[in-house]
This record gives sequence, C-alpha cells and structure tokens, in this order.
Amino acid sequence: MRSLAAAALAAFLTLYSATARADGPVIIKFSHVVAENTPKGQGARLFQLLVAERLKGRVKVEVYPNSDLHGDSREMEALMMGEVQMLAPSLSKFAPYTPKLQVFDLPFLFPDQAALDRFQASPEGRGLLESMRDRGILGLAYWHNGMKQLSANRPLRRPEDVRGLKFRIQPSPVLEAQFRAMGAATLRMPFSEVYQALQAGVVDGAENPWSNFYTQQLHEVQRHVTETNHGVLDYMVVVNTRFWDGLPADVRAEMTAIMAEVTQKVNASAQALNQAHRNQLVASGGIAITTLAPEEMAAWREAMRPVWKRFEPDVGSSVLRAAQEASQQESRTH
Ligand code: LMR
Repeated sequence: MRSLAAAALAAFLTLYSATARADGPVIIKFSHVVAENTPKGQGARLFQLLVAERLKGRVKVEVYPNSDLHGDSREMEALMMGEVQMLAPSLSKFAPYTPKLQVFDLPFLFPDQAALDRFQASPEGRGLLESMRDRGILGLAYWHNGMKQLSANRPLRRPEDVRGLKFRIQPSPVLEAQFRAMGAATLRMPFSEVYQALQAGVVDGAENPWSNFYTQQLHEVQRHVTETNHGVLDYMVVVNTRFWDGLPADVRAEMTAIMAEVTQKVNASAQALNQAHRNQLVASGGIAITTLAPEEMAAWREAMRPVWKRFEPDVGSSVLRAAQEASQQESRTH
C-alpha cells in the first residue's frame, strides 16, 4: 500500500516537473558526488553549457557536484522521486536495480578503455542502458573515468599483502567478493565519507582511479598506491524514464544530440586527466606508487579471477561473452 502511494507520488512529481512549467524552462537538476575537475565533473558542466546555448529558455541544467545535494546512498531514490532529473552514478552502484551491470565490476575483465568502448557500443552494451526501464531508470550514455588502483598505508605488491586489511568499497557484491577472495575485509561506504574513514582508520585502504584519488586528497591519508589497473570505474548517465518521455520530442532530440557530443568529449579526455592526476599525486610527495612486473600482475589476476564464476549467472552468459570478445580483440591487436 505504502509503495503504491509512493509510486503515485513519484509519478505525479516527475510529470509535474516536466510538463507543468509550460511558462518557464524545464529544470534538470544534475547531481553528482565527485569534484568538478574530474571526467564526470567536467562532463556535467559541459552538458549544462551546451544546453544553455542550444535550448535557451526551454531547458535549464543545474549542476550539484561533490555530494552537495545528494550523496550516492540517496541519489537514486531522489531520481525516482523526481527530486533530481539526471545522475551519473558509477556502474558499481546499480547492482540493486539490475544484476547485469555487475559485468563492469568483474576484476581484470576489461584491459583498458578501448575494450570498454567496444563493449559499450555492442548490442549487449547498448542493451544495458535500457535494462532498468522497468524500474523507471533510463541510461542515456556511458562516461569513462579510469582504471582502478589500490591504496593502503603499506606497500601492496602481492595479493597476500591485503590479507587482514579492510577496504572501503562501493555497494557492489562483486567488489565485496573480489576483496574477500584475497582475505581482505570490506566496508560499503558513500564516496563522501571515504577521506574521513581513511583518516580515522575505520578502513585501511580503498580502490579508485587516479582522478578520484587525487581530487579527494588521498595523499593526505594514504601512503601507498599500487598501480593494479584491476578494474574499471565508469558511469552511466541516467534519467527518470517518465520525466524523459514527458519532454517535448524536439527538446529530447536536442538533448540526445548534446549528450552524444559531451560523451565523446568526456571519453576522449578521461585518460589524459587521470594521467595528469597521477602525476600530481607523485608530485605531492605524499604517496609512493608501486608498479607491478608482469608476473606480479599475473598473481593479482589469478587471485581475483575466481570471482567471475560466481557472478556469471547474474550477469548472463551473452553479456559476459560480449564483454570478453570486446576485451580479447584488444589483445589480438597487441
Ligand atoms: C566511488 O564511490 O568511489 C565512485 O563511484 C565515485 C564516483 O562517482 O566516481
């Protein structure tokens, strides 16, 4: 009964926000949790700028970075309730809405962003954008951040080195299993709490791309990062389906075109931004970076890979096969 009432209220709010402002612009609140000088932060601002230029007076985008409006534990609910209209959560945060998206968390599946691009452009990858329609969530695009690295207060050269440590993770069963497979403990935690948790010793380590590490001043609270590149951190830009379908068709078409343009720019510059942030972490002098020899990397791969088997039924064999094909194409060309 309660959920019926909540659904009716959500339907009313989303329709109201799209249609009842016939006299003024449609407002799109775009909420996210990271800093402005990250791939996602820059993408949100570019989207805002292009919409202001091309849909002046019809649509206005308001960007709320740094968990200022909603943290990641609340933002999906806010989207479904029509309190915000656009988000770009990391793909690891969608497990409660569709188990298939867990494919992106499988460790050592995608070797780099080119493999991700190929998978995301495949029919299976495009299909995942639509996989939450029955929950009222529609994916418009994938945005890259970068490959994940592992941080701690001691050097992590071999998988055994994480044994007994506790890592902050995003709310993903795959990530939980990945650390457990190596004998480490995990704690699910919103992004905005990670710095303090590391500082207070509530957790011993974390995983994220360089850009998130640097912009969250990781070097103040962690002494080591190992360049494992063991997984990807990517985003899906999502809207509330009812809100989106309620927009005038020409507005939706223009925003679709703008989103494609922004996506191209975000994805073309994410790697360089991560590299720049890696360099800035090194320059800070506060953190030592451990790079791995190929045989050391193989040990990490071997320690984490058993996780795949457990999650294959959730992800589905056709999605996993398409992801593997996209990844293997890369190794064939090298
Ligand atoms: C995290 O929680 O570590 C990331 O998903 C944050 C982000 O949005 O990049």
